Amino acid sequence: MAETSKSPFVVVANRLPVDRDTGDDAAQWRASPGGLVTALEPVLRQHDGIWVGWPGSALDDYGQFEVDGLKLLPIELSSDEIENYYEGMSNGTLWPLYHDVVAKPAFHREWWDAYEQVNRRFAEAAAHSAAPDAVVWVHDYQLQLVPAMLRELRPDMRIGFFLHIPFPPTELFKQLPWRNQILEGLLGADLVGFQRPGGAANFARLVRLRLGHKNHRDRIVLDNGREVCARAYPISIDFASLEKLARTPGVRQRADEIRAELGGTRKIFLGVDRLDYTKGIRQRLRAFGELIVDGLIDVDDAVFVQVASPSRERVQQYVEVRHDIERWVGRINGDLGRIGRQPIHYLHSSYPREEMAALFQAADVMVVTPFADGMNLVAKEYVTCRYGNDGALVLSEFAGAADELKQAFLVNPHDINGMREAMLAAMRADPHDLSRRMRAMRKQVRENDIDSWAKNFLSDLAGRELASA
Ligand code: F6P
Repeated sequence: MAETSKSPFVVVANRLPVDRDTGDDAAQWRASPGGLVTALEPVLRQHDGIWVGWPGSALDDYGQFEVDGLKLLPIELSSDEIENYYEGMSNGTLWPLYHDVVAKPAFHREWWDAYEQVNRRFAEAAAHSAAPDAVVWVHDYQLQLVPAMLRELRPDMRIGFFLHIPFPPTELFKQLPWRNQILEGLLGADLVGFQRPGGAANFARLVRLRLGHKNHRDRIVLDNGREVCARAYPISIDFASLEKLARTPGVRQRADEIRAELGGTRKIFLGVDRLDYTKGIRQRLRAFGELIVDGLIDVDDAVFVQVASPSRERVQQYVEVRHDIERWVGRINGDLGRIGRQPIHYLHSSYPREEMAALFQAADVMVVTPFADGMNLVAKEYVTCRYGNDGALVLSEFAGAADELKQAFLVNPHDINGMREAMLAAMRADPHDLSRRMRAMRKQVRENDIDSWAKNFLSDLAGRELASA
């Protein structure tokens, strides 16, 4: 293994925070997709640590390197491993299983073998790049075996694990042929963090039922007497830096331009998601289309902008959901649009932070309606960008963010009529009511930002005797 500098703080996540741009200039790096990176990048900067992860495409050299002041250690994945570990076990089995089986999970033994093999490679690289007594923070469902592998390799280290997606109830988790191995993998950590208290409780229950380990509140006692703590740490965003960006003249001007381009006075509904079947994109567009058909919204008065960033494009279920959404967009625009007045602007693309901040500022109603979601940081980003205390958030009660953003217009995304009502209520709400709601939500995100999330997790991890909550 190539020589790397040893760090006292190591983040291990499936992806590096940057992907190699496969466009014209191969030397370019761009931010990786998803909320995990948005949340963790400032944490790594603050702790001057090293990030171990997959760069998203093949590199010539797999040694440690730096991008924009971040120390990165790339992990190589072969095309078979991408197919079996990433697209297969991670996104064809665990992702749908952990998201309430919104899509049917597939169970394949060769996917599991690749998952084990790749988890071991990550564990070895992390063990190699960590200084004595280092703190290692492992992230997400792709790497659930890493904590136990790391403990075996480096018992001196303090090991934390955080699951960014929901942890499923016992009845669903039990379907997994490798359920005990996953539980044992996670138990290699000193502290296992979840987005919601329900996830931590599901985990403790499963460990008791399947492995016979007793738990005392949030502490699980293993046979050798070692204790593992399982607790909720709702993730957040860097409120201060995003709000600062939203206030810059360039972003404000761009928000004005977006408004003008969309018709000046039209109310703007906005959806921003990775293109994923858990996000409920088609259902929310359908609800919007029905409001137009029923004459409750006029295309002269409102428009829906849906940003759907490309994701996991070779996984069959993602191919299908894209076709499904695009069929609906075409149908709604074809049936209900007029020249110069499209009901839906559908953008299958990712945008830089500045453009997103401008979109959040331009939007009157943000619509976040996943069927299941660990947290959903887009909801928190919208609230952060609304420094004028205006704008409305329609939010699924099945997103982790609903625990905190209680003043949103909460909806059940399976209930199309309920979504129609909430979208209409949000559009027509009295500005005083919106301001009251937005103030409360902004306070919540400001006071519980990414810094406090990381501090809470890392200080609990640092204290060997994890104080009972
Ligand atoms: O937050 C869930 C998550 O799967 C992260 O682990 C990941 O970084 C992000 O979504 C994007 O997914 P992917 O890496 O599969 O593109």
